[in-house]
Amino acid sequence: MSLSKAVSGHLNFPDSTTQRLQIKHLLEPTKMVSTTAGSDVIQGLKKTPKTLPFKYLYDDRGSELFEQICDLPEYYPTRTETKILQNYSIEIAKITGTCELVELGSGSSTKTRILLDAYQDLNYPLHYLPIDVSTGILELSAKQLLKDYPTLQVYALAGTYEQALSNLQPTKLPTRIIAFIGSSLGNMNTQECDRFFNQITDALHPGEYFLLGIDLQKPKDILEAAYDDSQGVTAEFNLNMLKHLNRKFEGNFDTTQFSHWAFYNEVEQQIEMHLKSAIAQTVELRSLNLKANFTAGETIRTEISRKFDLDTIQQDLQAHGLIPQQVWTDENQWFGLILSRLS
Ligand code: AVI
Repeated sequence: MSLSKAVSGHLNFPDSTTQRLQIKHLLEPTKMVSTTAGSDVIQGLKKTPKTLPFKYLYDDRGSELFEQICDLPEYYPTRTETKILQNYSIEIAKITGTCELVELGSGSSTKTRILLDAYQDLNYPLHYLPIDVSTGILELSAKQLLKDYPTLQVYALAGTYEQALSNLQPTKLPTRIIAFIGSSLGNMNTQECDRFFNQITDALHPGEYFLLGIDLQKPKDILEAAYDDSQGVTAEFNLNMLKHLNRKFEGNFDTTQFSHWAFYNEVEQQIEMHLKSAIAQTVELRSLNLKANFTAGETIRTEISRKFDLDTIQQDLQAHGLIPQQVWTDENQWFGLILSRLS
């Protein structure tokens, strides 16, 4: 495909590693997206109650802060999922056998290494397809992986989940597993989740696998502490969205006039992160030609993080033809890993 390029000279790999890496760029050139850029912000800020898409949490600083969140004592999901992977990755590898591992939102591929180790320990040849919107992270982590896994082939896809899933070529290995770990499913509402499962089933062939990591329901105080930590890192992460919007759309959000607010909505079974306006104020985003008025105490919802129940999510997967094969969890049942297979 014409978009495909090996990144040889670009990354200065020794020969043996360049031959094992390809990066395909699927993102549209900025020029082509600029006409619609920000329409989601306009829509969200004109609504009552106001919302903003969670993707604006992730500029460079936001990604850095998220990495810090993952190490916080109150933020149990990362370490709990890591432990489950450490305990059961050999079992996962034995079920799938030799396969192509596709990872959605691979980032730095830290947790994936546990899976890669398992396949390597079992001497299963492995192809890894990390997918991420950030080309920088993809290239960096691929470079490191190639050094650490001498027989690994990496075919990285820089693009959105949607672009990448509709661009998957048939695998040369006996089967494929698409991994979506980290409970990012929780950041989608039910409609988005439904669409996403349809994209997964379209991308898989019958008999191929889907590995899903999900955060489970638990007492409210544990959940709320995880999203409002004592060091204030999550607060900074949330407020950083406003700085990102200021930069991107010539805005004048004053971050000292907003505060972080996170709570567990027991009816919707989701954590909600909001930014609360301290005063009545008008904020302008000049390049979007938008003025947003806030009353004192008014909030913008910046993220939902749904908390799942193992039975319901399995029924959901099943309804999409993804038949659960095995479920793994931790001793507290705080986090779940489900391996399903397309019927
Ligand atoms: C990326 N996602 C799964 C995180 C979560 O827990 O929903 C994002 C996050 N937001 C605040 N803390 C972490």
